[in-house]
Amino acid sequence: MNNNEPDCRRIKPRVFITRQLPPQGMQRILENCDATVWPNRLPPSREELLKAVGGCIGLVTLLSDRIDGDVFDAAGPALRVISNFAVGVNNIDLVEAKRRGIAVGNTPDVLTDATADIAIALLLAAARNLKAASDEVCEGRWETWEPTGWLGCDLVDRTIGIVGMGRIGFAVAKRLAGGWGMKVLYTSRSDKHAAGLQSCQRVGLDELLTNSDFVSLHVDLNDQTRGLIGRRELALMKPTAVLVNTARGGVIDQDALADALANNRIFAAGLDVTDPEPLDHRHPLVALPNCIILPHIASATTDARNAMAEICADNLIAGIHGQPLRAAVG
Ligand code: DGY
Repeated sequence: MNNNEPDCRRIKPRVFITRQLPPQGMQRILENCDATVWPNRLPPSREELLKAVGGCIGLVTLLSDRIDGDVFDAAGPALRVISNFAVGVNNIDLVEAKRRGIAVGNTPDVLTDATADIAIALLLAAARNLKAASDEVCEGRWETWEPTGWLGCDLVDRTIGIVGMGRIGFAVAKRLAGGWGMKVLYTSRSDKHAAGLQSCQRVGLDELLTNSDFVSLHVDLNDQTRGLIGRRELALMKPTAVLVNTARGGVIDQDALADALANNRIFAAGLDVTDPEPLDHRHPLVALPNCIILPHIASATTDARNAMAEICADNLIAGIHGQPLRAAVG
């Protein structure tokens, strides 16, 4: 090579990362790419995002970043891969990505247990009134031990309804069937995951809602599942039922849920996800004593987030080089 020519082999591919990631993934990306990392805790505005992606070959995105045709246009024709730091990819226009030949990667498996644990935590918290009971202590309203105060629901030998028996749904069902002896009803496109459970039955959604003591949602958010749990569905549930959502907020009609909870048409709800996120603190759901809401923390364990970052880096680097992604969507 002539010494006056630039050494193209040393030019690293340009990428944009919409937030700081855990170091395991970040390190690899920084070694392999010319990376711009959005430095703030809050996401870039739409304008800032469109500006930042210009000329990028790869993007690392979060579930809170809307990635669509406008982003692809702003990035330009070099864009080869979107590596989403999440298992859910409802923030990405997959049809448009496919049409343009842009690979999309996600981070499955490594957050399954963390997410299932939060579903169980929410189920327990909602079934046993933990939010209202804890508030009473914190706000100085606790006066005495009451024989009929704070009565919740038992879990042993009850029925759990799993809406969407994928990896996470299965992990929740396994915990509740094994630990609490629950009978499992589930909806699913296939029996693939349920094969590992002893006592379970695949049913339609209406039958599941009518017969379950607890209902846990584990479906992707898409055109078929948006608003899946609305007024009609909530009316089918037992008045003693508890609803848990660790999937996506849009799966539930939140106004209908607020009505059902306020009027004791179901017993309680535990939500890790809302629509939008963050949920306005003045939303009726927030003030309800029988609704516990978390700020989308299901995958927030150190191990899960480190592993997500590693897959994210692998997906990005493979996609940049036109290789099969470690975890490809579609
Ligand atoms: C995901 O990865 O989709 C989860 O919702 C993150 O907690």
